Amino acid sequence: MTKILIVYDSRTGNTEKMALAVAEGVKKVKDAKAVVKAVDKAKLGDLTKADAIILGSPTYYGNMSGKMKSFIDKTYAVHGKLMGKVGGAFTSSGDTACGAETTLLSMLKAMLIHGMVVQGRYENKHYGPTAVESPNTKEIESCEELGERVARLAVALRK
Ligand SMILES: Cc1cc2nc3c(=O)[nH]c(=O)nc-3n(C[C@H](O)[C@H](O)[C@H](O)COP(=O)(O)O)c2cc1C
Repeated sequence: MTKILIVYDSRTGNTEKMALAVAEGVKKVKDAKAVVKAVDKAKLGDLTKADAIILGSPTYYGNMSGKMKSFIDKTYAVHGKLMGKVGGAFTSSGDTACGAETTLLSMLKAMLIHGMVVQGRYENKHYGPTAVESPNTKEIESCEELGERVARLAVALRK
């Protein structure tokens, strides 16, 4: 079974709703299993055991939250062990064009530095799903699409 780990931070629940929608997308893929963890509960061992890692954070001043950044900084202990895993990111922000894309890129940059495989998207939401506060139906669908797409790629790479 290909393991897709979804780690999220969420103070008021918006990013958490997105995380659960990403997991729903993973469920659509045969041979893939989603594991959802709040960042406080996530361990480095969860990352090394996963085939794909999807991170979600609220947009805080155009960046990921401090909790998510602290977690990423801890991954220094497993540097080199995340190479080749598939990555993805999502965020909820307070408004449009208020730092959501830079937040996604802040998480994706760390993944690239770890040697992870990040797939972009040509239609829209190029860097990953974003929502303004609580995700609406379309934003939920884009989260499901991310989960499904990352899971398909991870399953294919595992073969
Ligand atoms: C410390 C802090 C910084 C924030 N900075 C931004 C920001 O730069 N841009 C923005 O659009 N929203 C910003 N927001 C709003 C949150 O991104 C938004 O409310 C989000 O939906 C919260 O997600 P959550 O419910 O998962 O905690 C900020 C909120 C807080 C508490």
